[in-house]
Amino acid sequence: MTLGWKKDRRLLLGICGGISAYKTPELVREFKKLGWEVETVLTTAAERFVSPLVISTLSGRRAWLEEDFLSREEGWKIPHINLVEWADVTLIAPATASFLHKAAWGDASDILSASILASKKPVLIFPAMNVFMWGHCAVRENVHRCRELGYGVFEPEEGFLACGYEGKGRLPSPGVIREEVLRTLEPTKDMKGTRVLITSGPTREAIDPVRFISNYSSGKMGASLARTSWYRGAEVTMITGPSQEPPPHGSRVINVVSAEEMYETAMSEAPSQDIIVMAAAVGDFRPSSFSKDKIKRKGEKSFILEMKQNRDIAAALGAARKPGQFLVGFAAETGNAMENAREKLEKKKLDQIVVNEVSGPEGAFGSDRNSVRILDSGGELFSSEGSKDEVAEAIWDAVAQGRKDHGQ
Ligand code: CTP
Repeated sequence: MTLGWKKDRRLLLGICGGISAYKTPELVREFKKLGWEVETVLTTAAERFVSPLVISTLSGRRAWLEEDFLSREEGWKIPHINLVEWADVTLIAPATASFLHKAAWGDASDILSASILASKKPVLIFPAMNVFMWGHCAVRENVHRCRELGYGVFEPEEGFLACGYEGKGRLPSPGVIREEVLRTLEPTKDMKGTRVLITSGPTREAIDPVRFISNYSSGKMGASLARTSWYRGAEVTMITGPSQEPPPHGSRVINVVSAEEMYETAMSEAPSQDIIVMAAAVGDFRPSSFSKDKIKRKGEKSFILEMKQNRDIAAALGAARKPGQFLVGFAAETGNAMENAREKLEKKKLDQIVVNEVSGPEGAFGSDRNSVRILDSGGELFSSEGSKDEVAEAIWDAVAQGRKDHGQ
């Protein structure tokens, strides 16, 4: 399984003249890192905020400027038509109030606004401006009109603005914009209207105020599952233990620390979910007692820590499952993988189980790649090897298949 839809795509980036144009070189790099081709158009005002040479050096192509529009030298290339025909998606970031006005009223008096009029592909607009400009009813009406015309207009982020005010008006980070573009291009929207709960990451079991027991889980597999199901249209909640992974954009993320906390949160979130995937590496044991004071060496040569078992979240969810709910677990194994996984599938009353080897240099913990086999009570359904996003896609394909077989 490969993420074919993500590969070799073509992006047209239109940059308008707002202070947040300073973020656009990073934005170009974000898409170049995906291996995409990027064409850029800068309005006259944009050239005051960001150098066309920076943009064209990073994109590896010329930056199209207002002076190219209908010009004697470049006009015959009809950039405002050919660029949108070439691109799979057009992104305007940042979009100014003037650009929104032109887009809302079909004004084609400059290269960028003429381009989007000619586009038959998705056009995503990320406005950024002063908080009062954004709130002005003229801008609100233009945003509304743009949305009615079928343009994707995204809300600016709240925060500190270059004009000195605080409020809504910031351009989202390049990573957030990348995620929205990817979601637009993902062709499978088979999870639309589906509510998905994912447990992710390690848990930490406290020993005393400065020490804990945990495991090597990075939370990458859970984040990939969250991202890819959100691309496919799902409404995603992720319960995660402490992880270095950035929270996946688009998902509701609930942070927990211990296995018991994850248990309580999962049990209260579960009843409203259609699909639950338990990717967390839950600590099986916690210290029998928590020492309020730091445990001292006191000259001791050894130290025995007594542990007691944590509750099994997957088994509890399996026992409390509501009709129609689909449950998927993971089996982290270092040997006898298939047999152990089959046992877990049955014991925890799961619909499917994803088996992965976690030992050795190729082990899944911390790695960007994974290699899994997906089982149900009838046997092996799929196997998948690749990036964690690719493996996550295969898991959602298996879930779709499983739900179909169950008539869901
Ligand atoms: N799991 C859970 N709660 C626990 C332990 C595990 O929800 N307290 C879930 C994991 O998220 C995974 C599945 O159960 O989806 C299997 O986890 P794994 O660690 O492979 O197995 P364990 O049940 O812990 O069994 P063992 O330690 O014997 O391998």
